[in-house]
Amino acid sequence: MSAIVIDGKKLAGDIRGQLAERVKALAASGTVPGLAVILVGEDPASVSYVTAKERACDEAGMKSFERRLSAQSTEDEVVALVRAFNADPAVHGILVQLPLPKHISEKRVIDTIHPDKDVDGFTPINIGKMLLGEPCFLPCTPHGIIKLIERAGVSTKGAHAVVVGRSNIVGKPLVNLLIRKDINATVTVCHTGTKDMGYHTRQADILVACAGVPELITADMVKPGACVIDVGVNRVDDPTKAKGWRLVGDVDFRGVSEVAGSITPVPGGVGPMTITMLLFNTVESAERAAGK
Ligand code: GUN
Repeated sequence: MSAIVIDGKKLAGDIRGQLAERVKALAASGTVPGLAVILVGEDPASVSYVTAKERACDEAGMKSFERRLSAQSTEDEVVALVRAFNADPAVHGILVQLPLPKHISEKRVIDTIHPDKDVDGFTPINIGKMLLGEPCFLPCTPHGIIKLIERAGVSTKGAHAVVVGRSNIVGKPLVNLLIRKDINATVTVCHTGTKDMGYHTRQADILVACAGVPELITADMVKPGACVIDVGVNRVDDPTKAKGWRLVGDVDFRGVSEVAGSITPVPGGVGPMTITMLLFNTVESAERAAGK
């Protein structure tokens, strides 16, 4: 293997250490940052994300308010819960784990979150502010990806970044961050309508795979020396494992790490950074509420 493995866990730990200091200072002046986490249903991946977010909150000295609702809950029940958290001064951030069950409108639920508590950066107000370059909560995964690229020592200025995926949560906001003047990458976006994806990905100095397709990116699709960021978290059947499955990213790690200059692993790459940037936004929100 020739690529440097970008250690997301280590970077996340460093940032969480700095956040813990800010949490201590806030607590000393009477404000404990609080994050409300709403999970509807029992999707196993969502349960494990939410558990990790709650644990990270506790470890950072923050308070988490957990509400796990049954998959049969109504849209009105979820909206009412969000409104209650909007009104609760002990709550500085609200996270509704997506996806929601099909009978619940994600748009209505997200639109209900007060923008000042939207630490996921999902509401139209925060997305609009991000596009305009105004102060706002940046969406956690794209923000974490930018930090990982910086940590890898890869210069973004004038680099060609190729983003594979156009979700509202990762692909679209990431493109916007990459073209900011202080980052200054040139961006190509690949999606399900792209013809000859390999042609585009082979041009990438920085390649971000966020398509949700297991091991979509293979070694022949990567420029030698590229920085490869793998956002995928996919469960694939594996009868050799006690659980019957294993996690893989959107990148064929074994093959691509022979070609790339640097690469994030799955797990231990983007995932810990997403959670860390969520804590970061919640601390910022609490500092604002405390008038700091
Ligand atoms: N589902 C997958 N990723 C995320 C995320 O970053 N935030 C929320 N709320 N739901 C998700």
